Formats: sequence, structure tokens, C-alpha cells
Amino acid sequence: MSVDLPVALVTGGNRGIGREVCRQLALLGYVVALGAREPSRGEQAARELDPDGVRVIACPLEVDNSLSVDALAGWMKDRFGRCDVLINNASTPYDRWATASSADLGNVAEAIDVNLFGPWRITQALLPLLRSSPFPRIVNVSSEDASIAAMTGGSPAFSVSKASLNALTRLLAAELGRDGILVNSVCPGQPHENGRTLAQAAASIIWAVTLPSGGPTGTFTRDGHQFPW
Ligand SMILES: NC(=O)c1ccc[n+]([C@@H]2O[C@H](COP(=O)([O-])OP(=O)(O)OC[C@H]3O[C@@H](n4cnc5c(N)ncnc54)[C@H](OP(=O)(O)O)[C@@H]3O)[C@@H](O)[C@H]2O)c1
Repeated sequence: MSVDLPVALVTGGNRGIGREVCRQLALLGYVVALGAREPSRGEQAARELDPDGVRVIACPLEVDNSLSVDALAGWMKDRFGRCDVLINNASTPYDRWATASSADLGNVAEAIDVNLFGPWRITQALLPLLRSSPFPRIVNVSSEDASIAAMTGGSPAFSVSKASLNALTRLLAAELGRDGILVNSVCPGQPHENGRTLAQAAASIIWAVTLPSGGPTGTFTRDGHQFPW
């Protein structure tokens, strides 16, 4: 089956910023595939956002599981026949208690598997669909903790994995530009801190979705403004 409306996949869409991104994308006219590693949580979130089940559709997706990612890519093709926007939002939490000198490298490996390899394997799996989109966009949801320029210690697993994700953004942007695929990293900022709302954090991500064709690629931004690498 193929649909006429643009289709977006949001990983980790069942709560937090990802859920709000799903809500905003549906309002903008996208059909949203809401990825959730726990199917019942995804279905509940999708039902809350779109009781009719037309604009927001839950799909099982564990980003650290290649079989799950491949199954998702097959489902996107069968269900929608397209994928125009990929938002790599799913993430491990901050490990604020840890330090680089004594970090449990098992935790670091887990963060890299989810925050770097997750977006990487999903991008690879969805590239055929993205390449056939008229306006393909990939948004890697990063963090201020990814900024190497600003690193002062703390959250080593999270920081290294998100800095690596930013590197992936640069590599993919350079490579996929010729296919018209815009690839950008966005730091959404911390909702509920300093008056920042969940809607503002999600809107920061939507900015990179709604860029015009030929627009910026390989950037790291918050609210559309360059963030220090
Ligand atoms: N909140 C902030 O202050 C802040 C600041 C800067 C950047 N960010 C970034 O913004 C994004 C969203 O943040 P958030 O605070 O909304 O996150 P969150 O509330 O912690 O939600 C994380 C989401 O990722 C999912 N997830 C985790 N591991 C997964 C896996 N292996 N496979 C599939 N899904 C997985 C979670 O699923 P479950 O519900 O099943 O756990 C959940 O849906 C993240 O990339 C985060 O790093 C957040």
C-alpha cells in the first residue's frame, strides 16, 4: 500500500520529546509511525495522540536490535510505501553520576549501541525509501552534552555516544547531499528547565524537518541556531 501524505518515523516516540514531536508532525500533515520498543506503550501513546488511528500509528522498534530494525523497514515499505522523514530520537538517559576515568565500559557500549548504532542501522535500513522521497530529511536528536567544545566532564557514556552521533551526521550529510537528503543534528534543550517547554524542545527538531530542499545539512542546532560542536 502507498499513501499520498508524507510519512515520518520517530524512534522512541512513546514519551517525552519524541511523543511531542509525533503530535506536532501529525498537526503539520504527516502520517507518523511512532516507534516504541514496548508495543503496548507505543499503542497507548498513538491512541492518545490520534484516537482514530489514521495519522499516528504505533510500530514496535528496538533501535539496538538489527532484526527489529529490519522488520520495521519492511513494515514501512508494506504499510506506507514510503518514508520521507526519519527522526532518530530514542536514547539512553544521562549517566551524570559517572566519570570517564572510572566509567563502566559496558554502560558506554550500551549507550553507543542505542545512541550511535541505533540511528546508523535505521538510516541504512530506510535509505532505499528515503532516497525515493521527494524531500527526504534525517534528524539526529543530539544534546548539549555532545558538544566537544563545551565538555567539562560527567555523563561520559551519553556524551561520547552523542558526540559520535554528531560525527555520523556530518558523514551522512556529506555523502547523502547528492541524493537531496538533508541530515542534521538537533539539540532540543531540556524541557522544564529555565522556562523551556516540551513544545519548544520538539519544535527545535521540527525546524530540521521542515527545511526547504537545498537547505542546510550537516548542522548542529538548537531552535534553528548553530550550536557549538
Ligand atoms: N530531556 C532532555 O533534557 C534532553 C536534553 C537534550 C537532548 N535530549 C535528547 O532528546 C531525545 C528525547 O529525550 P527525552 O528526554 O524525551 O527522552 P526520554 O523521555 O528518556 O525517552 C527516551 C525514549 O527512547 C526510548 N528508547 C530508549 N532505548 C531504546 C531502545 N533501545 N530502542 C527503542 N527505543 C528506546 C524510550 O523507550 P521506553 O519508554 O520504552 O523507555 C523512550 O521512548 C533524546 O535523544 C535525548 O538524548 C533530551
